[in-house]
Amino acid sequence: MRELLLCPPDFYGIEYEINPWMSRARGAEAALAQKQWKELYATLSKLDCKIHLVAPQPKLPDMVFTANAGLTVGRKFIPSNFRHQERAGEAPHFAKWMEEHGYEIRWLPDDLYFEGEGDALFGDDVLFCGYKFRSDIQSHRAVADMLGCLVISLELVDPRFYHLDTCFCSLPDGTAVWFPAAFEEYGQRAIREHVTELIEVLPEEAMHFSCNAVVIERDIVLSEGAPKLVATLRDHGYRCHQLPMSEFIKAGGACKCLTMFMPQRQ
Ligand code: ARG
Repeated sequence: MRELLLCPPDFYGIEYEINPWMSRARGAEAALAQKQWKELYATLSKLDCKIHLVAPQPKLPDMVFTANAGLTVGRKFIPSNFRHQERAGEAPHFAKWMEEHGYEIRWLPDDLYFEGEGDALFGDDVLFCGYKFRSDIQSHRAVADMLGCLVISLELVDPRFYHLDTCFCSLPDGTAVWFPAAFEEYGQRAIREHVTELIEVLPEEAMHFSCNAVVIERDIVLSEGAPKLVATLRDHGYRCHQLPMSEFIKAGGACKCLTMFMPQRQ
């Protein structure tokens, strides 16, 4: 059974601006964010998975985005080295929680930025890693050495799609959902070479964070606003669960950003 890590949005809010989606002037509605997060929790709870919760911390409003806690493979947990000081304080809380739950913590060198599962997603045995806006390309080699797996580095080119999980999502049968324009040309080619079947997301649907989906076997949990993608996924035999995610999109995240797999791969 898949295990997931989530963090309740008790201290969530738009308190700084570190990506183009965030605007302190606009803010997020706390009550609505709670409601949307609870709906995500309830939806995931009904699927074949076990959910763990890490305690939210005051003054760390983005801690809800547990995909950025780090990357878990087997019993190893590689904590993130956040690029922005605003999020750096999350790292010790996540590392402590993972250690208490029996994971072996493997820190990256301090000078390599790496934002965990937000920028590192397996497609079969290949670990696809995004870089430029958040993670450094040099962190990918370090991660590959720690895990002993093949890593493919993909340059992200659109600041709105600053983490890999905002524009790429692999599915169990060698298929992946992606928004090609978010990748530099070489990365697009690498994805085309390594993924058997690609489902392309339209720009207007990608803007609703529809690539940012949690996939559990044949169930896909994603934000609403992507009817074309949902129809295609249904044709491929997936059950889609569409959720309102407006308050988290205001921070530049949605369903997958709010979820980390423990582990992502055995
Ligand atoms: N406000 C957060 C940030 O900019 C959002 C993180 C979204 N997480 C993700 N895995 N894409 O860091």
